Amino acid sequence: MKNADILTGITTTGTPHLGNYVGAIRPAIESSKEENKTSYYFLADYHAIIKCQEPERIRKSALEVAATWIAMGLDTNRSIFYRQTDIPEIPELTWILTCVTAKGLMNRAHAYKASVADNETENNDPDKDITMGLFCYPILMAADILMFNAKKVPVGKDQIQHIEMTRDIAGRFNHLYGEHFVLPEAALDEKSAVLSGLDGRKMSKSYNNTIPLFESDKALRKLIMKITTNSLAPEEPKEPETCTLFAIYKAFATADEVKAMATRYREGIAWGVMKQELFEYLNEILREPRDTYNRLIKAPGDLDGILKHGASKAREYSVPFLDKVRKAVGINRLG
Ligand code: TRP
Repeated sequence: MKNADILTGITTTGTPHLGNYVGAIRPAIESSKEENKTSYYFLADYHAIIKCQEPERIRKSALEVAATWIAMGLDTNRSIFYRQTDIPEIPELTWILTCVTAKGLMNRAHAYKASVADNETENNDPDKDITMGLFCYPILMAADILMFNAKKVPVGKDQIQHIEMTRDIAGRFNHLYGEHFVLPEAALDEKSAVLSGLDGRKMSKSYNNTIPLFESDKALRKLIMKITTNSLAPEEPKEPETCTLFAIYKAFATADEVKAMATRYREGIAWGVMKQELFEYLNEILREPRDTYNRLIKAPGDLDGILKHGASKAREYSVPFLDKVRKAVGINRLG
């Protein structure tokens, strides 16, 4: 198996929504179609247990995330799709990397610093509720990436620091033990859009304003009807570019359709009409994948098979590579 040209992970704590799809899943599925590129995509379930200590939520989310990627068209023969927890080499590499990672580097991680800052604002002990899992989170992520010598890592802005830390850690290891790791680069996808949610803020689980991808058509319609708009009356000209409904439409429609819709905004399309049309448009696109998704969720054995197959392909790389890394630090397997 070849190392990763592209690699990214999805933390399994939530139900995939339109924002996840447009921002991360769709661009990843697109790049997996590039010729001669090896892409690795995985469910970051070890990362999930850092933030979420509800086993049922973790189990459900892992299933939902896997089903979403498949339903949306990921070709698991072309790309390597697996669970982080099915690659035992990853936690092993995590420890080896932990031993070359400066504590000071981890002190600077945004997520950790934000938790400390929150504690200080509330006059709590700075360490309150901070686990070693949270503190070491970037090392686990570095292991995910370095395990497969990934070149490009598509991530959101909030994750760029983690890629820089990965480069630092890899550089330190290479300096001590010889050139073993490729230094990865963060890839910010320009095509990937940030979608607004029901209330107009960025669509995010933490704002509780998401539109899950695979709601029933009835529930989807209900959510779209809830999207906040201004109070312009039917027939009053409307501004497309600042409108959440338009932004969602734009994320799915063709350039011509978008242009035609912008004209209708200026002609004063009524909000009720726009909402109904947006619903019908999305529903048409999601109908087939939704059926596939529901079928997969009901037959988790099929998903297990796909993920197992992915893990065995990934391990064709990670097992021999970790062996080299072990040897480099002076640990030989017993014969
Ligand atoms: N931490 C990432 C996130 O929350 C998910 C992730 C885990 C990841 N390991 C990774 C992303 C490795 C890219 C590469 O979004």
